[in-house]
Amino acid sequence: MNEIKYCYLNGKIITVSNAHINLNDMGILRGYGIFDFFRTYNGKAFLLKEHFERFKRSAKILKLKMPISLIQLNNLMKNLLAENKLKECFVRMVLTGGESSDGITCEKPTFFILPENHAKLQNYIYSKGGKLITYDYQRKMPEAKTTDYAIAAMLQNLRKKKKAIEVLYIKNGLILEATMSNFFIFKKNTLITPKNNVLIGITRDFVVKLAKKAKFFVEERDLPLREIKSVSEAFITATTKEIAPIIQINDQKIGNGKIGKNTQILMELFRKYAQNY
Ligand SMILES: Cc1ncc(COP(=O)(O)O)c(C=O)c1O
Repeated sequence: MNEIKYCYLNGKIITVSNAHINLNDMGILRGYGIFDFFRTYNGKAFLLKEHFERFKRSAKILKLKMPISLIQLNNLMKNLLAENKLKECFVRMVLTGGESSDGITCEKPTFFILPENHAKLQNYIYSKGGKLITYDYQRKMPEAKTTDYAIAAMLQNLRKKKKAIEVLYIKNGLILEATMSNFFIFKKNTLITPKNNVLIGITRDFVVKLAKKAKFFVEERDLPLREIKSVSEAFITATTKEIAPIIQINDQKIGNGKIGKNTQILMELFRKYAQNY
């Protein structure tokens, strides 16, 4: 793993060991914050414009002022990667309500960008498939990537105990998204993914584009959990996971319990695109 020495905090590139935020930061005291999370391929930030645009949408929903332009972010990323002598890494970009004298009014926002080493899924998941468990929950302000992952964090021990790779949120009988991923199914040659009350993942949108190019039918719509019984394939997507095939949800086997051929086609197309990025 590469050592991450430098980050960006409130206008400056500084060493991570010297980067501190205040104890009265509203991100900590009030959970008032947003973030985005992207990665590099071949030393280049992947789909940076798309991540920037989502960050902007999240800031708008929480009424936080954007601290940076896309051009500034592009330059900053180049500098951060160079200073850290890094090629491959993940990057967390966080904006909070910041320091506040009364603890509830946003006065001096905090903005930082932190390159990270991030654990990836074990390789066998991509050749054998993984399992999901379900949980009844819908994220608050689902279209915004807020820093509130309390439920997701609380569910990790259960996920590990059940040997699942992710926990899938269900609300009112509808499948939404997983704690840190979007969810897809294939019914024959039609790719279906939930549209409402989810975070619109950057990987999700990219996979939808890939699927349309590959001449699959795509439906973005509500997806009842009961429909799972009749699906042939399933997978999840996320920056950290790319396309991760799913062969079981709770005790329900998906299709024949093996990675589906359409999922394999999309995995291959994704890998090729990323390798040549
Ligand atoms: C709740 C939630 N949904 C979906 C995703 C997938 O988004 P992306 O593909 O942009 O990583 C994430 C990523 O962390 C997430 O936290």
